Amino acid sequence: MKVAILGAAGGIGQALALLLKIQLPAGSELSLYDIAPVTPGVAVDLSHISTAVTIYGFSGEDGTPALKDAEVILISAGIARNRGMDRADLLNVNGSIVRNLIEQIVQTAPRALIGIITNPVNTTVAIAADVLKKHAVYDKNRLFGVTTLDVIRANTFVAELKGKHPNEMMDVPVIGGHSGTTILPLLSQVKDVSFSQEEIVSLTKRIQNAGTEVVEAKRGVGSSTLSMGQAASRFSLSLVRALQGESNIVEYAYVEGEGEYARFFSQPLLLGKNGIEKRLPIGPLSVFEQQTLNGMLESLKKDIAQGEDFAKWK
Ligand SMILES: NC(=O)c1ccc[n+]([C@@H]2O[C@H](COP(=O)([O-])OP(=O)(O)OC[C@H]3O[C@@H](n4cnc5c(N)ncnc54)[C@H](O)[C@@H]3O)[C@@H](O)[C@H]2O)c1
Repeated sequence: MKVAILGAAGGIGQALALLLKIQLPAGSELSLYDIAPVTPGVAVDLSHISTAVTIYGFSGEDGTPALKDAEVILISAGIARNRGMDRADLLNVNGSIVRNLIEQIVQTAPRALIGIITNPVNTTVAIAADVLKKHAVYDKNRLFGVTTLDVIRANTFVAELKGKHPNEMMDVPVIGGHSGTTILPLLSQVKDVSFSQEEIVSLTKRIQNAGTEVVEAKRGVGSSTLSMGQAASRFSLSLVRALQGESNIVEYAYVEGEGEYARFFSQPLLLGKNGIEKRLPIGPLSVFEQQTLNGMLESLKKDIAQGEDFAKWK
């Protein structure tokens, strides 16, 4: 199994690389790429950890050596939010970076499963899809926007509020997109826990704004890196296990579906040897959730259209 991280010298990339070096199955290869010259050094540093995962590091303008034979690719390359920015402010820079990296993937590893972490995910995934499409290698079962952090945060906050051990929490479903109001936790589906209407409103808001909570706490100079590293490692390891034939692996991610709500939408997915085996239903919504969903779809569709335009014109 070969996994590649693009943007590997960054805050998320390094945390993710560490967690994968420790957790990938024995015999795997982990390939790190970043434009930052420090990247081969990050790989040497990690290579001293005694696990049977072979690690390589590449830097410079050309990422293709890192991509050779990669089966799973995570993209966290790009700029992150600082104070006062929302995810949409990142679009011009990060859109170009994602487009460029996808073009390198097209040349080198077009059948890999690709997880996009780079924000704004609502838009960068649409860019990636349309660039792959332009080169006739798009498979909508192989491209994912990584929204696992929303699920992890929702689990943590619900456990905190209800005095439960986080491990006791079944995954709290989070659907929609990965930005502000497009993030929709389905608290009505959490088993064995009940919420007052006030709790539902405040918890939903906290989950939607959790990224900003971190940006503020970091005094405006950086966003979530360590929790995101954990989220991305969980998602990557699920992809790896599914590729290796393990069954019943379900994760939420932002993918192209049947377009019932929007072209791209985060929903539960059964993963398999070819990426998405089955898109699972989002289940019944409460009146509050249905209203929130109706209210955010326009904004999500706008984010997606921006990505489609970006891929077309820029
Ligand atoms: N999906 C999510 O839930 C989620 C959560 C948090 C952050 N993010 C996003 O992840 C991205 C990375 O965040 P971070 O905190 O690690 O940022 P960072 O600035 O610490 O790291 C980004 C890395 O990307 C590298 N890079 C820039 N251009 C590149 C290119 N063309 N090719 C290869 N590498 C390149 C930089 O050198 C840097 O090392 C941001 O866009 C951020 O908004 C997503």
